[in-house]
Amino acid sequence: MRIIIVGSEMTPFVKTGGLADVIGALSRELAALGHEVVTFLPLYRALKDKVAAAQCVSNNIRVPLGGRSMVGAIYELQLAERQRVVFVRQDELFDRAGLYGEADRDYVDNAARYLFFSKAVVASIPALRFVPDVLHAHDWQAAFVPLWWSRMLAPAWRLRTVFTIHNLAYQGLFPRDQFDLTNLPADYFGVKGLEFYGQLNLLKAGILYSDVLTAVSQHYAEEIQTKEYGCGLEGLLRSCHGKLHGVLNGADYTAWNPRTDRYITANYDNHSLANKVTCKRALLETLKLPVERAWAPVIGMVSRIVEQKGCDLVAEAVPQIVMMGASLAILGAGDPKLERQLRKLAERYPTRLGLKIGFDEALAHQIEAGADMFLMPSRFEPCGLNQMYSLRYGTVPIVRATGGLADTVEPYNPGTQTGNGFSFDDCTPETMLAAVARALETYRQRQHWVRVIQNAMACDFSWRKSAQQYLSLYQAT
Ligand code: ADP
Ligand code: GLC
Repeated sequence: MRIIIVGSEMTPFVKTGGLADVIGALSRELAALGHEVVTFLPLYRALKDKVAAAQCVSNNIRVPLGGRSMVGAIYELQLAERQRVVFVRQDELFDRAGLYGEADRDYVDNAARYLFFSKAVVASIPALRFVPDVLHAHDWQAAFVPLWWSRMLAPAWRLRTVFTIHNLAYQGLFPRDQFDLTNLPADYFGVKGLEFYGQLNLLKAGILYSDVLTAVSQHYAEEIQTKEYGCGLEGLLRSCHGKLHGVLNGADYTAWNPRTDRYITANYDNHSLANKVTCKRALLETLKLPVERAWAPVIGMVSRIVEQKGCDLVAEAVPQIVMMGASLAILGAGDPKLERQLRKLAERYPTRLGLKIGFDEALAHQIEAGADMFLMPSRFEPCGLNQMYSLRYGTVPIVRATGGLADTVEPYNPGTQTGNGFSFDDCTPETMLAAVARALETYRQRQHWVRVIQNAMACDFSWRKSAQQYLSLYQAT
């Protein structure tokens, strides 16, 4: 098949979260399975030097944006056999320090930026020397693609449009006047169109106008049809349930594998777990925690520091976790208030809470390798990637049973010795602490602990299966 993938971030180019890992790995896996893949990405400032080797395919991609006609360029980079990336360049919109904003504020013209991007993708297709069978867009930034495709090219060209929701909490909501930038007739702005409580909702374009709709785990695909998780779109999603599928993300084991990971002090697998202890000592040293305490359990966390991830629960529970004998290794950035709270706790427990605020790829890997447990008390979690990485690193996940966490973590049962982690249901510090206590208790029973680690490391969430699921959705008629 010839497949176009559209997203706003992608490893190894730009990343703020899991979306980048997914776009990068899915594109690569589909190409590895023998399909022709083109992935579209905006040309952000951070990418400019990385694309020096790219070839300009057209510098005259012209799209309407409200009253303006805007021109962009597209650059193509061959990444592997059958795999290309096409960067959409429009410096006025994308030559900036951030992706979506700076200093905690979204860019005020994000609607213009991503409407331009989405329209430019559709306008670029004829220039690609490539007749696509599938157009697969991801998240609100690319949600306009299926709609614009259906208006601009659909009658002349048959292909299947697929839209994937990675996080319903981000819908691309903008003031009503921004609807002009869509260049759509006024009747598209209605309850059955892009309107959402008086605002423009870009995510709705993807939900309404795609042939196939997916969410990044089976559990999440069901949850978003309920009031609790639907963020106001549950009714619409229920009405689309016939085309809505859950496809669990994979884990990219070329990047996240303790046997080959270049960021960690000692490589290991399930036969050489002594090297995991070496990684633990190195992690303690990096975070300036006492290495003599390497015998005691360390709980890791790598996360956007936001309420979605339950960071507030963790902040509340730090004193008890410390009292229970564990240390914490936390890496993340996000909400300034929560960051401040964690910083204060790190000052209060300098030998027990190792904290780094910021984005640090190397440290993320070092925490996966060096910690004994990995905490993800998410309020909601469409898929979550870190629990899958943790499993591969033998770093036992403690998760709230929601979304993809519920689909990937099975509570350890000492009776049958099955299960790969620990989970809890209610979103309170108390239930989370009870799960932490179960994990710590198991940690003290060496035989059981080794069993959980072995069960965890034996799990296989490689991309092959997920890519094949997408392929069958691409192919279904
Ligand atoms: P989300 O996309 O909701 O943030 P995921 O679990 O899907 O959550 O993916 C998060 C990805 O971003 C993981 O690869 C994780 O390692 C990475 N990540 C998150 N925060 C940081 C950080 N501060 N430094 C480095 N990597 C991070
Ligand atoms: C979103 C979700 C996360 C998911 C990621 C990749 O950022 O919050 O759960 O793993 O997308 O699909």
